Amino acid sequence: MGIINNLLLQFVEESRGPEGREAVLEGAGMPGKTFLSEQLYPEEDWQKLVGATVDYMDVDGETAQKAFARWCLPVLLKKFRPFFKSSRSAQQLMEKVPGIHRDFPSSAAEGFVDKISVVESSDAKLIYDYTSPNGLVVFLGELGTAVAEHYGQEVEVESREMGENHWQVEFKFVR
Ligand code: HEM
Repeated sequence: MGIINNLLLQFVEESRGPEGREAVLEGAGMPGKTFLSEQLYPEEDWQKLVGATVDYMDVDGETAQKAFARWCLPVLLKKFRPFFKSSRSAQQLMEKVPGIHRDFPSSAAEGFVDKISVVESSDAKLIYDYTSPNGLVVFLGELGTAVAEHYGQEVEVESREMGENHWQVEFKFVR
């Protein structure tokens, strides 16, 4: 959905100014384009924006994913407060993530409707199954870590590649 495209553009604009936003849109081959938060856009738009952001910021993909995840948390906290208020721990919030993404659906690349699902959530461990052509595993791990820190918790993250466009990401809550 346009939400994520706008978040990325807002992130670029806050770190590099309005010209950064324009440069990324241009780099993505869609100069001047605006996205409506509640509208679905092709997955390719998102992929082009991510690629153009990494190029423009001249950082590696992992660094970009981490920086974007860290930037996203306070914005999500503000914009989607009820999800966080109704969760008493990071694990509770993270259990809701598949449902949240179903309500704010995916760009729905063919075959990737539920990109994130919970494989296991036990005492102090949560495992996500993540299938996506976007492979934002580092983003997923870092956003989960930031969520944990928000709840005063600490996590260890481990990602496993399960196949093409398919990962499992395990969060161990150590505190
Ligand atoms: C709490 C409010 C949240 C909202 C409203 C939200 C919304 C969204 C939306 C609209 C997308 C774009 C999906 C698409 O168009 O394909 C997205 C992507 C994503 N979100 Fe969230 N999200 C939230 C929290 C989280 C959290 C806490 C995590 C991780 C623990 C997370 C992980 C991801 C990942 C990994 C993607 C990229 C999916 C892909 O394209 O591969 N999100 N989110």
